Amino acid sequence: LLDAEGRVIASTNPSVPLGLRLYSPEIEAALQSHTAHDVRHTGNEELAYAAAPVLYEGDILGVIQVAAPMQPAYQDARERWVELIIEAGVILLLSLAVSLWLGQTITRPIRQLHASALRIANGALDERILIKSKDEIGQLGQAFNYMATQVSNLLNMQRSFVSNAAHELRTPLMSLKLRTQSLLTENLPDDQKTTYLQEIDSEVNRLASVVTDLLILARIDEGKHERRLEPFDVSAFFSDVARQANIQARQHHQQFRAALPDSLPDVAIGMNDLRIVLDNLLSNAMKYTPIEGTILLEVSSDTHLHIQVSDTGEGFAPEHQSLLFERFYRVDRPNGRLVSGTGLGLAVVKTIVEHYGGQIQANSSGVGKGATFTVTLPLAA
Ligand SMILES: Nc1ncnc2c1ncn2[C@@H]1O[C@H](COP(=O)(O)OP(=O)(O)OP(=O)(O)O)[C@@H](O)[C@H]1O
Ligand SMILES: [Mg+2]
Repeated sequence: LLDAEGRVIASTNPSVPLGLRLYSPEIEAALQSHTAHDVRHTGNEELAYAAAPVLYEGDILGVIQVAAPMQPAYQDARERWVELIIEAGVILLLSLAVSLWLGQTITRPIRQLHASALRIANGALDERILIKSKDEIGQLGQAFNYMATQVSNLLNMQRSFVSNAAHELRTPLMSLKLRTQSLLTENLPDDQKTTYLQEIDSEVNRLASVVTDLLILARIDEGKHERRLEPFDVSAFFSDVARQANIQARQHHQQFRAALPDSLPDVAIGMNDLRIVLDNLLSNAMKYTPIEGTILLEVSSDTHLHIQVSDTGEGFAPEHQSLLFERFYRVDRPNGRLVSGTGLGLAVVKTIVEHYGGQIQANSSGVGKGATFTVTLPLAA
């Protein structure tokens, strides 16, 4: 404790004589009314000094100076540093472990996906991924499995299509072979020869129609079927179709009727393709309708063109409704009545109609109750 002149009044340090004028930067500052501090070596000890003025109504009464060794403070700071370095090391190690674990959980499923994709590419179509999470990786896995299933289904469809097609071509080829063999090796009477040649002719026609159907399907599958949209006289077209159907129905001893409006708008389908659609629907109606039955062709238009081919024939049970349009699908006839056909006609019709953005539906009130096929086609723009 110093007085206003900087002389010692009292001290905790017994080696400091009372009345001694002390000089140091912090004391000089305190005598000027400022609080200050300083660090100095005293002997071989480093000390921190602080001094503050004692004021009374603005006048300096004296100065208080305190001193403390720096050593404990340095010790404290060193210990804090060591603690900090250890803490930082632990945090670094922990975050390294977490990022490694995260990396593993993200990359492991991706590596599995990669390996599965390669196995599928090499022909293992049954390969699927085990999905453990619901996050983005899990969703990716689900999409991957769905894709694998679709690819496998498509490939199976293609394979059965090819084997069915080969079978359908083989049967007529075998009977052709038998007939030509007989004609070449046996000494047949003329009328027998003629019969065989007529059989060959009709088999060749059947083969040609199967090949045509297969080609239409293959072209549309490949995306190579053109959408020929040259305008044609739709009314004249249907009149012509009705005229020919009338002749054919008479040959089958069936009734044919047509309900056609006087004029019909242009429709967004190629004329040859529309001809294929109608030929198939009308020939089916005649094929699956007994003699004396009736076949009806109705055409109308609003925002679309509606074509309806109905018959009073054998119809079909509800379970066949959606299957009739599948390739090679034919309804088994319990009474064993054999009707020639490949089961491609309606598949071709549906493929063409949908190729032009139209729709087709099959309806029947049941076996023996006739069938109705309804085609809806967009009008020309
Ligand atoms: N009008 C119809 N009435 C009853 N069943 C029908 C009718 N049209 C088709 N079906 C059934 O649908 C099946 C498939 O018809 P689709 O035209 O595809 O083949 P198909 O006539 O048997 O042979 P093709 O390839 O020579 O046309 C037929 O076998 C028949 O069972
Ligand atoms: Mg048919």
